[in-house]
Amino acid sequence: MDNRPFDFEADYGAHYDTFIRQVIPGYEGLHALAGAMLEPSCPANARILVIGCGSGTEIICLGRLYPYWHFVGVDLSPAMIHQCSERLHSLKMADRATLVVGTVNDIDANGAFDGATCILVSHFMAEEKDKISLFSSINHRLKPDGRLIVADACNENSSGFRAMMACRWNFARAHGAALERYQRFQEDCRTSLQSISPEMEERLIRQAGFSSVRRFFTSLHINAWLACHEEWAD
Ligand SMILES: C[S@@+](CC[C@H](N)C(=O)[O-])C[C@H]1O[C@@H](n2cnc3c(N)ncnc32)[C@H](O)[C@@H]1O
Repeated sequence: MDNRPFDFEADYGAHYDTFIRQVIPGYEGLHALAGAMLEPSCPANARILVIGCGSGTEIICLGRLYPYWHFVGVDLSPAMIHQCSERLHSLKMADRATLVVGTVNDIDANGAFDGATCILVSHFMAEEKDKISLFSSINHRLKPDGRLIVADACNENSSGFRAMMACRWNFARAHGAALERYQRFQEDCRTSLQSISPEMEERLIRQAGFSSVRRFFTSLHINAWLACHEEWAD
C-alpha cells in the first residue's frame, strides 16, 4: 500500500469503489435518494454537475434512473477520471457524461446546470472558507432554481458518537473489508479528514448563498443535505 492518506492516484483510489461500499452503509441508497431530491428542479434532459465524480457512482446511478440527464463530472484525480471513464464505457454510458480533470473552477460559471452534487468531497478541505468557496462556486453554476446535494463525513465530540463509530468495523467486516485496509483507512480519517459538525456544515452551505438547506440522509457519521433557493416553511 502507498503512504499518502486517501491517495486517489494509487492504492486507495484503485480499491475505492469496492471499499467505500464496505464502510458506508446505504452508500448506493444515498446516491439514488440524491436523484429524488434533485428531480423537482430538473427537466427530463437536465444537466447535472458532479463535483468529485470519483469512480462514477453518481453518474451511473442517476444516469440509469434518469435516462435523459447529461452529466459533467469533475475530479482532481486523473486516475479517478480514468476509472470513471472506463466504467462508463463498459456500461455503454460514455455518451452520457463529459469528464474533466480539475476543479469546479474549470467549469464555465454560466448558470447552466439544473442540479449539482458534491458527495464526499468537501470533507477533504481543511479551511471553512475553502468549503464555503466550493459550495459558492457550485451555486454560481446553477440555474436560479437549481438544487445542490452535499454529503460529507461529520464529527461530533461525544462518547456516544465514538461508541457508535467503533461499531462501524462490524459492518465493514460483515461486508468483506480486509482488516489491514480498514485500519489504514481509520488512521487516514483520524489524521486527514477535515470533518466538522453537521450544524456547522449546514451553516457553511447557507453562507454559500443557499437559503434552504435540509438534511435528508444520515448513516453513522455521513450526512447529506439538499440545498436550494426555494423558501420552505421549516
Ligand atoms: C471520496 S471520493 C467521492 C467520489 C464520489 N463522489 C462518490 O460519491 O463516491 C472524493 C473524490 O473527490 C475528488 N476531489 C477531492 N477534492 C476535490 C476538489 N476540490 N475538486 C474536485 N475533485 C475533488 C477526489 O479526487 C476523489 O475522486
